[in-house]
Amino acid sequence: MGGIFLFFAACFVAALFVEWMPSDPEIAGGFGYTVDPLYSFIYWTSVFFFIVVGLLMFVFAALGRQRKHERNEVRHGATHNTLLEIGWTTPPLILVLAFFLLGFRGYLDMVTIPGGAGGAYLVDVEAYQWGWQFTYPNGGVNSGGANQVVLDVPAGRPVRFRLSSRDVLHSLYLPDQRIKKDCVPGRYNEMWIEVPVSDQIQPGGVYKDFALRCTEYCGQQHSQMNGILRVWHPDDWAAREEAINTWNKPEADGSRMSPVELGKYVWEQSGGCVSCHSIDGSSGTGPSWKNLYSPGGGDHEHPGIDEIDEAYILESIYYPGNYIVPGYPNQMASYAGQLNYGDVLAVDAFIRSISEGFPEDQIRKE
Ligand code: CUA
Repeated sequence: MGGIFLFFAACFVAALFVEWMPSDPEIAGGFGYTVDPLYSFIYWTSVFFFIVVGLLMFVFAALGRQRKHERNEVRHGATHNTLLEIGWTTPPLILVLAFFLLGFRGYLDMVTIPGGAGGAYLVDVEAYQWGWQFTYPNGGVNSGGANQVVLDVPAGRPVRFRLSSRDVLHSLYLPDQRIKKDCVPGRYNEMWIEVPVSDQIQPGGVYKDFALRCTEYCGQQHSQMNGILRVWHPDDWAAREEAINTWNKPEADGSRMSPVELGKYVWEQSGGCVSCHSIDGSSGTGPSWKNLYSPGGGDHEHPGIDEIDEAYILESIYYPGNYIVPGYPNQMASYAGQLNYGDVLAVDAFIRSISEGFPEDQIRKE
């Protein structure tokens, strides 16, 4: 019997460990205050009954061994026991009703936007293999995948997401807000959050980042469909919204910037690549981009690189420390999170376009 109690003690310790593992550490403006207590309630109820049922099983097994001689006796007269049956039916019924009522209350919170759907800030979310595209009311777009994409939202007001998918099932999961919902091709789903303004979200560009995940297995690069939920102070939001819009600004005729134009735009932004990288061959803090794609690879050595390509440009922007051009200090900070994959491809197209002798038809047009 000692072994059995040891076994259950071990189960109990494991249960404590699972419950208190710091998996979803923060509750930030979502449904944690209803989801977490309900989760704990169901969890501990399960642990309790696991132990009770397990112990009873061993007790009856032990009793059965002691009464071997009665094994073949058939007991007569045991048809039913009303009191016993009420006793084992009512408590589970009450428990299940409690699960339902608490869950239903949380569900109502999740589907009821304070002030109505019309008063919430609407972001369109389109999932695809393997990334996200977020479209804002002013037409601005954030898109990308590969753990880089950013979902910018304002703090202090309800933000509503209209979810759909371009191809297969995905699911948008915001763990710190304790909410997720499927992105289904051919239909819309909705969910909403409201992240309160806090000490960590302040005017002047002090934003707070949270995790964003795809939580529906959607193919080979499902694990790359992570991103960042970035929450801005309400005072900063208008400027941020405008920046997102400018980044992918539609031209007057309705078409968007070509990759080369967007790449040039990214380069020449104040505080952008232009602060360190010239395009005319002159020296800066970093190597010039002039003729990088020309036969011979421009004016610089690129140790460890056989061929300049998109992957090299992307890695140099996201992981600058991995590729150091001799003669230049390694001062560049990663631009992961600031430039999405589309921006990087645009920068790449721009660099190609300013390389003498680089074939025109190998410059990205779309
Ligand atoms: Cu998209 Cu998993």
